[in-house]
Amino acid sequence: MTKYSEGYPNKRYYQGCKYIDEIEKLAVKLAKKLFKVDYANVQPHSGSQANQVVYLALLRPNDKILSLDLLAGGHLSHGAKVNFGGIFYLVYYYNLDPITQQLDYEEIRKKAQEVKPKLIIAGYSSYSLKVNFGKFREIANEVGAFLLVDIAHIAGLIATELFPNPFPHADVVTFTTHKTLRGPRGGVILAKKELAEKIDRALFPGFQGGANQAIIAAKSQCFYEASQPEFKEYQERVLENARTMANYFLEKGVKVISGGTETHLLVIDTKSSYGLNGKKAAELLEEVNIICSKQMIPYDEEKP
Ligand SMILES: Cc1ncc(COP(=O)(O)O)c(C=O)c1O
Repeated sequence: MTKYSEGYPNKRYYQGCKYIDEIEKLAVKLAKKLFKVDYANVQPHSGSQANQVVYLALLRPNDKILSLDLLAGGHLSHGAKVNFGGIFYLVYYYNLDPITQQLDYEEIRKKAQEVKPKLIIAGYSSYSLKVNFGKFREIANEVGAFLLVDIAHIAGLIATELFPNPFPHADVVTFTTHKTLRGPRGGVILAKKELAEKIDRALFPGFQGGANQAIIAAKSQCFYEASQPEFKEYQERVLENARTMANYFLEKGVKVISGGTETHLLVIDTKSSYGLNGKKAAELLEEVNIICSKQMIPYDEEKP
């Protein structure tokens, strides 16, 4: 689909969008129904762009963001120095507990009170346990911050109610449609209704150009599939597989970060378990057709 459709349904910068408008309205309707929210924007081309749009909507340059350190499982787009976020905003990090490698809400609270951020980010790239979004809401309220929850990885688990829903705690939620949601490569923003206008304008004309309507059609299909009972069964199997694998490693004395998994992923400390850094371990696994991602681990002494 090469038709240009800058703008939103019934408010396009081009003529000839009547079918495209219906496609986008359907995707928005299905996203809202699936995640039980009042507002969805299905135009972000990716998860990182969804996050950048949120920053543009809610922050001014040099405002403060508090997010999980990239080394501990955060994402580049949560404010790494080399990323848009780290260049335009003042980014501070919370970390995982050094012993349990789990989120420590008292430490996060202390850090938030010290930093007084305008935005707190929860939701991660490689954290394998459940997150208490209610606790994050309390902390955000105490310091007057917005709460962004990035569910890029766990959107499929949330859509099927196998993981706590970040609403009503979050102000904004971003996610990718291509991870556990098993859809096309793209991003979505969900938010409280009162932020709708700001986010729409930040996305277009603020940040992106024309919407990718072929992908938006595929997002509708993905939201439809995710609402079917078979998808929930599939997500249950994903969780069971990850749990079984983590428990097996633990039985063998392998160090699983955070002590196990409650999600679809697990992180292994290959260095202390096998004397291999992540790069070497990932390369060896590829030789036997097992593909995994290498990742920094909490308090890692290796380079990214
Ligand atoms: C938590 C989180 N947010 C955002 C993204 C970025 O998604 P994209 O690659 O679509 O920009 C990722 C990708 O791994 C992620 O893990």
